[in-house]
Order: sequence, then C-alpha cells, then structure tokens
Amino acid sequence: MSHPAGNPSGHPSGRAGRGLEGRLALVTGGTRGIGNAIARRLLEAGARVVITGRDSAGAEKAAQELVQSGGECRGVALDVSRFDDVQETVKGLEKELGPFAILVNNAGITRDDVVMRMKEEDWDAVLSTNLKGSFACAKAVIRGMMKQRWGRIISVTSIVGGMGNIGQANYVAAKAGAEGLTRTLAREYASRGITANAVAPGFIDTDMTRAMEEAARARLMGQIPMERFGQPEDVAGAVVFLASDEAAYITGQVLHVNGGMLM
Ligand SMILES: NC(=O)c1ccc[n+]([C@@H]2O[C@H](COP(=O)([O-])OP(=O)(O)OC[C@H]3O[C@@H](n4cnc5c(N)ncnc54)[C@H](OP(=O)(O)O)[C@@H]3O)[C@@H](O)[C@H]2O)c1
Repeated sequence: MSHPAGNPSGHPSGRAGRGLEGRLALVTGGTRGIGNAIARRLLEAGARVVITGRDSAGAEKAAQELVQSGGECRGVALDVSRFDDVQETVKGLEKELGPFAILVNNAGITRDDVVMRMKEEDWDAVLSTNLKGSFACAKAVIRGMMKQRWGRIISVTSIVGGMGNIGQANYVAAKAGAEGLTRTLAREYASRGITANAVAPGFIDTDMTRAMEEAARARLMGQIPMERFGQPEDVAGAVVFLASDEAAYITGQVLHVNGGMLM
C-alpha cells in the first residue's frame, strides 16, 4: 500500500487514538464523490483503506491523492457487478493484507427513466451494481470478519429507497433491496460481532446530482429544510461513526442524512 513520505507507520501523524487503527476497510466506488470522502475519513480515523473503481488508473490516482494527507490506501479496479471478480479480488487482497474488518458498499449508478420507457438493460445495470454488488462484496468479506469476531458492513442507500421517486424505479428498488439485505445481514451475523447498517443520504453535491437539470435541483432544494444539498463529508461522518466501536450495539438500522428532507 502507498505510504506517505517519512511516515512508515502509515498513519496520519499527530492524531492518536482515532478509533480505527489497524482495521482494514474496503470502500467500493471510492474514486470520487461520497465514497472518496468516506475513504478520507476512514484514513483519518486510522484505518487502512482499499478503494475500488471500474478502472485501475482512476482507482490508483484517487488512492495516491488520498494518502497525501497520510495513511495507507490502495486503489484497485473492481466492477462490483461482476460477482466472480469480486470474490477473487477480495480473496487476493485478503491474502496480502489480511481480512477486511469494514466494508462500505458505496458504488452506485443511475439509469433514470419512467417505467413505461425504462429499458431492461437499464434495470439490470442498476440492480447489478447497486444491489447485487453489495451482496457480492458482503459475501466475500463475511468469512474474514467472522474469524475476527468483529465486522462492520455499511451500505450507502438513499432517501428515495423509502419514498419512491419518479423516473428511478430501478434505483429505488435497488436501494430498498439493499436496506432489506442490511437487515438480514444484521440478523445472520449479530452473534459474531458483525453489525450491518445503512446510511441513506438525501441529495448530496456530487457528479451524480450535478448531472440533474437546474430546474430539478431548484425544486428539490425547496424541500430541504436546511436549504442546501449535503456535502459528501456529511455522509462520511455517519459512515465512520457506524464503523466505530461507539456504534457496537447498533445494527440493522438505516441512518438518514438528508438535511431534514424526510422526517
Ligand atoms: N449524490 C447523491 O445525492 C446520493 C444520494 C443518495 C445516495 N447516493 C449513493 O451514494 C453512492 C455514491 O454516490 P455519488 O453521488 O458519490 O456517486 P458518483 O459521484 O457518481 O460516484 C460513483 C462512484 O461509484 C463508482 N462505481 C460506479 N459503478 C461501479 C461499479 N460497477 N463498480 C465499482 N465502482 C463503481 C465510481 O467509480 P468509477 O467511475 O471510477 O468506476 C465512483 O467512484 C451511490 O451508491 C449513490 O447511489 C448518492
């Protein structure tokens, strides 16, 4: 893994006792947006972090940028929708780095259209990445977590998973499904010291929402009591809390981070 110059311990200097020292974390889709902020906060908390993106150049570049402020981070190419690749890649990484203690299922895409016009391939692409990808990653890391008798599986879902949203049947179904997956993981592995929770962001300022039309963004803004889109760091703080020992007795929950948009 990359180390900051002059800091062979791999931990950011000057911040002792940050809670996640020695934990190995996998953050899917850490190349930008929310996943990137999560990776940064996990590094600041002392975890070693592996981020993934769909191409290796992008993932490696993002990892290099992340370690500039310290810590150990690796960027690997991994398309989470490819089930066998996920199992093999995780196996290879664990052989080299040890078992993962924290999984953040963050990788996600949208392919919006109303049901009448939505293509089968758009349904499949979104479900494969946003839902099957979370199952594939959870399955890949569970055994290692069980051996440690400690694990955190945190899935980034969405406010729309509980509300529905026009033009997003595929995305909403995937996010609602990921919350169901979370509750089942929580029940199956609670006795092994593994918690599973979801963080459901409202509207966050990233590439995903920048792609929306200005009129749609303005309409949404009117529904947010805090009168702003969230920042990726707003979501990252909630994820790092759920990854910490402070959250040891919290499992099967959905933590909403939405500026009051849904209460
Ligand atoms: N932004 C919001 O308002 C909002 C609200 C609620 C929930 N969310 C959720 O938050 C998560 C992150 O969203 P974001 O806004 O940060 O999105 P983003 O800026 O579009 O970033 C998406 C990330 O996912 C990665 N990714 C996409 N498909 C992948 C695949 N098949 N395998 C591996 N990585 C993949 C991308 O990496 P590469 O492009 O490098 O492959 C990128 O790092 C998503 O699950 C999204 O649904 C976002």
